[in-house]
Amino acid sequence: MSGGGKKVRRNNSATSAGIRKGRFSGGMDPLFAGFNASISFDKRLFFQDIVGSVAHLKMLRRRGIISAEDARTIEEGLADVLSAIEEGRLDFREDLEDVHINIEEALKERIGEVAGKLHTARSRNDQVALDLRLYLREKFRMVQSDLLRLMSVLTDKAEANIDIIMPGYTHLQRAQPVRLAHHLMAYFQMFHRDWGRFGDALGRADEMPLGSAALAGTTFPIKREDVASFLDFSRVSANSMDAVSDRDFAAEFLFDSSMVMMHLSRLAEELVLWSSSEFGFCSLPDAFCSGSSIMPQKKNPDACELIRGKTGRVYGDLISLLTTLKGLPLAYNKDLQEDKEPIFDAVDTVHGSLEIMAGMFPGIEFNADRMLEAASDPSMAATDLADRLVREGVPFREAHSKVGAMIRAGSIGGGKGKHEITLPSPEEMVEARKHTGGTALRSVLEQVKTARTFLLENSNAREARPQKRGGKKKG
Ligand code: ARG
Repeated sequence: MSGGGKKVRRNNSATSAGIRKGRFSGGMDPLFAGFNASISFDKRLFFQDIVGSVAHLKMLRRRGIISAEDARTIEEGLADVLSAIEEGRLDFREDLEDVHINIEEALKERIGEVAGKLHTARSRNDQVALDLRLYLREKFRMVQSDLLRLMSVLTDKAEANIDIIMPGYTHLQRAQPVRLAHHLMAYFQMFHRDWGRFGDALGRADEMPLGSAALAGTTFPIKREDVASFLDFSRVSANSMDAVSDRDFAAEFLFDSSMVMMHLSRLAEELVLWSSSEFGFCSLPDAFCSGSSIMPQKKNPDACELIRGKTGRVYGDLISLLTTLKGLPLAYNKDLQEDKEPIFDAVDTVHGSLEIMAGMFPGIEFNADRMLEAASDPSMAATDLADRLVREGVPFREAHSKVGAMIRAGSIGGGKGKHEITLPSPEEMVEARKHTGGTALRSVLEQVKTARTFLLENSNAREARPQKRGGKKKG
């Protein structure tokens, strides 16, 4: 046996055989068994699987589909399986294919054949659809709260550095002076939109698929609304065929995550540039940088580069799922088992990247002198000079070419050190833009204030949620 020590069991075992018992003449080819199995990754859904089963069970009992006594036995058995998994006492088996059969089999080991009643009026197709929705529902909220943390860190940093003036760029060429805080609050806006997108998608994902069974529903007198309410879903899915085939909510999660990563990657790229000797605008905290194995002077912005690099992974996860879904006929197809790894990968990557950015950001030190020096490049006053001419009655296009010609002739900037006209200072320039969304102190402070109100309202909402569920409020 190879080094991993993983036991490969023969595949004539109980439930696997249970599924195959009637129809098949023997076990799976071991090669196919490994290919077919998803337990190595879908074990991450064990909690959702058990919670979903308990809700299903309660409904079956309420509707008289199984007896109260059987329901009690099964529920205790499930609780037992849950603690066994949580305490690492349950060995997941590849020959049992996936998390659903592994749990069903563990239940049977504990309570015997009555375990088989749990799967009444249910299929693995609606079961896995439910598990994924329960799982992602939690992850939508997790990423939202990661985003809130990063937004709060950005707002703190903006406010603490409100007086720093730096060059704003277009085409990565010096364009016009801005406040650093304004630049940072631009990222606040991006993450704020991301937060909203996750919330919107969560609203659409809030649909309970169980009861769709394999694809056509069930002949038992189930009450899907009960299951939905036990599991805190607002509604049940409207079409059984759609419910078992639909992974739109997962694709949305991956798209929303891709947007977050894209925004993070842009921020990461700016930090890589700003922390270079060429810019010298900031230094990144040592704790988030690494050294070179050969060049003793190096302090490399690896955290930023990794965030930038991992963005590609998450895009890949999105494309992977979209491609899996493309051209699938209704209803369930085994291709759908391929949905999980991209989802898990994106969850880990977006969560990890947000945590790293939020963890690193407070430790960034900005070099105000260096930034102001760069912002004092006289050519950056060109637009304001043109505006000055416009105020004297010159049409803007004419003013634009006049100032352009002055720059070309070297009478503004050009390193000659003598200017024919007095130039506005960087501070005057940023202060001249007082409108909403502008660079003036007043405008940027307004952005900070709006951000704080948003953060306050939503951190309260987050803390209120578990209290509301428990039915009790702290006095
Ligand atoms: N492991 C399967 C998946 O992840 C569960 C559903 C299996 N359904 C089936 N008809 N084979 O998609």
